Amino acid sequence: MVMFRQGTCTPSVQANAGCTQKLAVDGTFALLLKLALGGFKATEVRVNRIRESNPPVVLITGTSSGIGRACATYLHQCGYRVYGTSRQAPDLSQVDAPPPEAFTVIPMDVTSDTSVATGIQTILAREGRLDAVVNNAGVSLIGAVEDTLLEEARFQLETNFFGVLRVCQHVLPAMRHQQAGCIVNMSSMGGLVGLPFQAIYSASKFALEGFSEALRLEVRPYGIHVVLIEPGDFQTAITAHRQIARGAQSTSVYVRRFTHARAVIEANEAHGSAPERIAYQLERILRHASPRLRYPIGSVVERIGLRLKQVMPSAWFEWVMRWSYRLL
Ligand SMILES: NC(=O)c1ccc[n+]([C@@H]2O[C@H](COP(=O)([O-])OP(=O)(O)OC[C@H]3O[C@@H](n4cnc5c(N)ncnc54)[C@H](OP(=O)(O)O)[C@@H]3O)[C@@H](O)[C@H]2O)c1
Repeated sequence: MVMFRQGTCTPSVQANAGCTQKLAVDGTFALLLKLALGGFKATEVRVNRIRESNPPVVLITGTSSGIGRACATYLHQCGYRVYGTSRQAPDLSQVDAPPPEAFTVIPMDVTSDTSVATGIQTILAREGRLDAVVNNAGVSLIGAVEDTLLEEARFQLETNFFGVLRVCQHVLPAMRHQQAGCIVNMSSMGGLVGLPFQAIYSASKFALEGFSEALRLEVRPYGIHVVLIEPGDFQTAITAHRQIARGAQSTSVYVRRFTHARAVIEANEAHGSAPERIAYQLERILRHASPRLRYPIGSVVERIGLRLKQVMPSAWFEWVMRWSYRLL
């Protein structure tokens, strides 16, 4: 993040000399002032609309377990009107209304255009609006790059990246029309640091990082905020649901190092934080009039790790990573 700030602001000023430098500084100042004023305007709009929309309507994808379920449960308890999703959920027309203590669950597979379109239309038809979307649904693929089939890699990206794109494309028209909304994308610290034997998972989350950073700039004039949550290790069903690359067999040349790395990954998840911690942070983000782009959430060690990547020579950081995953 620090690198991003330096890269966008400092060089544009340094690149100009003499009187052009003053003009550039004035121009930059004017641009910053305009952005700030624009930001305040957008903030006012969003705060007012959220107040009008009482309770706010929130869609969270992938709420049958883990982070999604914790977030949906907590927001429901806080008084939000929550729609969760599961690929296994029956159609709303086939079930009774949920009891007051439970949030509503609709069927949705984020890899299917029809399923996403139907789910979002169902919510808009019932509520007339959608204030926030949490793109949480995700899967995790593990295995050496060489042992991973292209179809396995495609499925990973189809869920973790194209799934988010699909949902965004279906909710943005409604949010633009409302002139308000918040899209929260569940990334990962693996979207900031490449994780060994999770290269395709990391690729899907790195893609999500760039996508969200860019989308945020596009939709800000419509009062829509785009936010990334970047969890470290959390105790969820992700470990049990994880897909292992079909080529990761005992005959693989990577088997010894893969086995070490997998043991570290699973141990870290087993000792990870409770997903309720993310739920609490999510609610604060949704209440915030002007949320930041990135919210890394994890242990102190994980957050120090992220910082080290920014400040350490890359060869040293790579050594730390190989040591952490028992790959030395
Ligand atoms: N746990 C961690 O340590 C950790 C760390 C960093 C980031 N994350 C991210 O957090 C998010 C949630 O993960 P989790 O740890 O809570 O895992 P989880 O317990 O396995 O939950 C994954 C959820 O995603 C849903 N899902 C999977 N494929 C789907 C699809 N094609 N369409 C719709 N829903 C789908 C599942 O619902 P159904 O199977 O019922 O459809 C399930 O509810 C993921 O994006 C993950 O990458 C997790």
